[in-house]
Amino acid sequence: MLTKEQNDLVTLTGPGTPGGKLFRNYWLPVAMESDIPEDAPIAIKALHQDFVLFRDEAGKVGLLDLVCPHRGADLSYGRIEAGGLRCVYHGWVFDTNGKCLEQPAEPPGKDFCHMIKHGAYPVRVMGGMIFAYLGEGEPPAFPEWECLQVPDNHRYVVRSRERCNWLQGLEGDIDPYHLSYLHFALPSARATLSDSNAGPVYEFFRHGTPRMEVERTDYGVRIYAMRDLRNEAYLRISNFICPNIAIVAGSSDGDGYMALWHVPIDDEHHFKYQLVFKRKGEINLSWERHQAEMQWDPKNPTRLPERNKENRWLQDRKDMKAGWFAGLGHAFGLHDNWATEAMGPIYDRSKEHLGHGDKAIVGARRTLLAAMEELDTGKELPFRITDSQQMKQKITEIVVASLISPDKDNYKEVFYAQHMAASKAAAAE
Ligand code: FES
Ligand SMILES: [Fe+2]
Repeated sequence: MLTKEQNDLVTLTGPGTPGGKLFRNYWLPVAMESDIPEDAPIAIKALHQDFVLFRDEAGKVGLLDLVCPHRGADLSYGRIEAGGLRCVYHGWVFDTNGKCLEQPAEPPGKDFCHMIKHGAYPVRVMGGMIFAYLGEGEPPAFPEWECLQVPDNHRYVVRSRERCNWLQGLEGDIDPYHLSYLHFALPSARATLSDSNAGPVYEFFRHGTPRMEVERTDYGVRIYAMRDLRNEAYLRISNFICPNIAIVAGSSDGDGYMALWHVPIDDEHHFKYQLVFKRKGEINLSWERHQAEMQWDPKNPTRLPERNKENRWLQDRKDMKAGWFAGLGHAFGLHDNWATEAMGPIYDRSKEHLGHGDKAIVGARRTLLAAMEELDTGKELPFRITDSQQMKQKITEIVVASLISPDKDNYKEVFYAQHMAASKAAAAE
């Protein structure tokens, strides 16, 4: 449970809020690469702020403040030309760094381009997404997640627009317990599950009450959910990474992971970027696409899914008896969409009652509140790393697991020690 003041701190990201400042210390996905048409800019919004996103004639991506610094026109109506983006009101041109290149209404030699510095933000295009640093000063090292660097057939990214505060979405991702209920398929519906959630682990979800352990780390929280059943044990390791990332097993079947970023649009809406990654095998693209298409139109993230809040997600009481526990169809993302949106736009955490199964949620909130206290002290924030080598090393410590162990003694410690020894050896090579 949080106080009202704490709830505001962890949810609100508007101008001047501690949350808004915290988010501006990190690289955030702000669009999909495919959003930008070849020869036109688009308007986007993140952290309550409006931007124009475009590619110049050389293909370089630029992210600028939306409003023209001349007399306030909307730059997303501009033309791609003259080495940048030309405002169609009076023809000023800006390059991807926000440098003013032309002011055609000024007499020759009298322009004052050098006095204009339009707001521009560093961007990185990786893994089909556009990441931006919306803060001031030098950005931290870009976290080059393995999932962003592999060939396209090893990952699938989908972005959805969620009509609720960003933290509701994030808290769902790092909650290992709800798999046993919200996403549970009754035996007759097992065939519609992905390999990672069917098969041998299925019985653990149904019958194994998890033991939760949470470790606060310098990047956020490492979460162990352990379920013992007869002579076996099931271990799932997930992570919360400050301020808004979850790295979990998801539907990756233990080979790879699922990465999720929740990026506030404003306090009552956010974009969820969900990336499924397989390390050894190719991704099951048709299954992932099918799941995504049941939920959202990848080309139009503002379109409502067929099941939505207005129609009570078409909850089906017959299906609850013979198909899916929650009667909300078999798209996991829609189950989560119900859980988070039906709570209301900004959930009031001063009224809840947390238990053992909520340890991960408590750990993440503590991390966020502690990070906000550090904001103006100059101390390093969790996972804000300026050195790129250190960032690479840190990423190797972020372990994901979904495995059944035949050994019911110390399986968490054994797995983790083995994994860390292997990644240290790899880093030393
Ligand atoms: S408002 Fe953009 S050039 Fe005048
Ligand atoms: Fe979920």
